[in-house]
Amino acid sequence: MNAPLTGLSPAPDATSSAHFALECRQLRKDYGARTVLAGIDLQLKAGEYIAIMGESGVGKSTLLNLIAGLDAPDGGALLIDDQAVNALDDDHATRLRRQKLGFIFQAFHLLPHLNLQQNVALPLLLNGLPQARAAQMLAAVGLADRLQDFPRQLSGGEMQRVAIARALVHRPRLLLADEPTGNLDPDTAAEILQLLKDEIRANAAAAIIVTHSPTAAASADRVLLLTRQGLRELSAAEVRAR
Ligand SMILES: Nc1ncnc2c1ncn2[C@@H]1O[C@H](COP(=O)(O)OP(=O)(O)O)[C@@H](O)[C@H]1O
Ligand SMILES: [Mg+2]
Repeated sequence: MNAPLTGLSPAPDATSSAHFALECRQLRKDYGARTVLAGIDLQLKAGEYIAIMGESGVGKSTLLNLIAGLDAPDGGALLIDDQAVNALDDDHATRLRRQKLGFIFQAFHLLPHLNLQQNVALPLLLNGLPQARAAQMLAAVGLADRLQDFPRQLSGGEMQRVAIARALVHRPRLLLADEPTGNLDPDTAAEILQLLKDEIRANAAAAIIVTHSPTAAASADRVLLLTRQGLRELSAAEVRAR
């Protein structure tokens, strides 16, 4: 499980202009006769933090699911850390994603029978990495004294703190967050977003945050709007006006 990604070219120099944490080239997804994503182009530089906005049902979760490998595209190419995922066999693609990606879901998705330390240690276990960083990450999100607690003992904001710790514990190159504050009250949402942003920066991860909140989006390096025509960049004024 801890084997290197043999058969893959070495990661290029992070300062090289050709280096992207993520590249989508004409990425397409159909459900039956219905085209949800018609040809998405997206380039995300190493360490870049972007927000994606867009109407409900336009395909934001579908796009994250394609990147995460939870769903398969019907066309186009997907590169993670400059590796073309479509060119890899299933095992290599799974291993690449397990090493390079972290996820945060709207509904937290913590495992109820594992305590907080065990929940956060899971990506370390799956990647064959030392477990010590689980407790360190929980401390970083303010839960140092809750390691043995179970998810049911936590508030929504605390659960999302655990989810942030779990998503970043294995130092992924790219964090994907699908409406990470959608289930939180506004004060907690603001606090969690700040924490998320701080932890993304502290871990030098690139990130895509899907959000309906103009405030949340405004904290990103760039804001993109997903429409039927694809992704387009929003100006700061357009973000404020939404
Ligand atoms: N597994 C699926 N099978 C069929 N249609 C789906 C499936 N997943 C999503 N869709 C449809 O694709 C469209 C985009 O959904 P989604 O990506 O969840 O939108 P968003 O996250 O932007 O609200 C919706 O119309 C949804 O009903
Ligand atoms: Mg969605």
